[in-house]
Amino acid sequence: MSEIKNAVFIKDLSSHVGKEVTIQGWMYNKRAGKGIQFLQLRDGSGVVQGIVFDKDESSPLFKTADSLTPETSLRITGEITKHPKLEDTYELQVTEIDPIQIPTEEYPIAKKEHGPDFLLENRHLWLRSPKQRAIQVVRNTIINAVYEYLNNENFIKIDSPILTPNACEGTTTLFEIEYFDEGSAYLSQSGQLYIEAAIFSVGRCFDFGPVFRAEKSKTRRHLTEFWMMDAEAAFVEHEENMKIQEGLIVHIVEKVLEKNLKELAILERDIEPLKKIKAPFIRKTHAEVVAELREMGSDIGENDDLGGDDETILTKKYDKPIFVEKYPAEVKAFYMKRDPSNPKVALCDDLLAPEGYGEIIGGSQREDDYDTLLARVREQKLSEDAFKWYLDLRKYGSVPHSGFGIGLERIVGWICATQHVRETIPFPRMINRIYP
Ligand code: 4AD
Ligand code: MG
Repeated sequence: MSEIKNAVFIKDLSSHVGKEVTIQGWMYNKRAGKGIQFLQLRDGSGVVQGIVFDKDESSPLFKTADSLTPETSLRITGEITKHPKLEDTYELQVTEIDPIQIPTEEYPIAKKEHGPDFLLENRHLWLRSPKQRAIQVVRNTIINAVYEYLNNENFIKIDSPILTPNACEGTTTLFEIEYFDEGSAYLSQSGQLYIEAAIFSVGRCFDFGPVFRAEKSKTRRHLTEFWMMDAEAAFVEHEENMKIQEGLIVHIVEKVLEKNLKELAILERDIEPLKKIKAPFIRKTHAEVVAELREMGSDIGENDDLGGDDETILTKKYDKPIFVEKYPAEVKAFYMKRDPSNPKVALCDDLLAPEGYGEIIGGSQREDDYDTLLARVREQKLSEDAFKWYLDLRKYGSVPHSGFGIGLERIVGWICATQHVRETIPFPRMINRIYP
């Protein structure tokens, strides 16, 4: 309840039938007939139709309703009635309208189709449209589901820094900034290395925040700023690491199906594929996947990372997420532990979402031996000075440990079945877009 007397949220209208209430929100559309006006109202929590009736069309109330233009902000009062035909639908029999601001300029986003550039240029307004709101509501459910699952599995949230002296995921996608007298600093690509330090304090932890990649790629899967959740756990090895990822994804999908059926319907998302997201997921080694992809016509080499098209064709073939494990160590990050039974491959996994969506998680067991890790830092010509602190972790009570990172926009994109990840984040940053 806000301070306005009888103010309620539209989502709660079912418990106010027969009562007079006030709704605070926006009129986004209007239809009129002889002596009647139907106001389409929204308040962020839901939508409702307000009905203004006056057969002479002469009352002040009717005239006020007539003066409202799309996107007018207002407080509007009336009695809640059940819709005569539709289940779970309510209407507001309007008795009072208190406009707050009536737009005098035409709202740029009309009902007609707009191209993606126009919509992105007007992202600050586009966010109000029903599909864009639905995506943000699902995103919120996913964020909460991540916290819930990990807290239940004894992970606590540890915040990692955004300004860092070293790279985490290779040097080709670093945003570099000048940092006072200290020289160059970089925007974090992943908090992983820092939460590795924290496991020696709290055992299991995760971070969740914005990360940055100066990705030159203009694909439907890439942003330059996106949100990542990194999880890390002491005494967890490769197999158990994948179990945790599988449990997390199953939990996320369950929560969205439990809370967001309305939003998924607005998005016209077929929920049958989501209902199939149950453990166990499919598991394949990188070598198996390369062979399979070649049979499907890909020109992927045995030491190549999967390309975007490879991910698309492979994940269209299966209706469950696919773990692709044990990549050639040389194409993966320096911190990954090698498989003792085959040192050419890393104890790592990428989790690919079905329906053509592709990679949503990257994870691995971490190298926990000081000398081996130092050799990797040197091989990859990384700065020993910048990584001194990270190497220290292998000197004082080193333990086997593993972790993984989820790209939030990738998982929202898959669950909402969006065309492009740019719709899944409120204000997308891409190589050719920083406005608004
Ligand atoms: O696979 P990545 O690069 O892994 C890491 O950064 C590890 N340090 C994570 C860890 O082990 N803690 O990134 C993790 C995920 C990817 O699987 C993908 O979902 C997402 O982050 N991602 C992107 N999402 C949007 N735009 C980009 N440019 C992305 N790059 C990676
Ligand atoms: Mg990856």
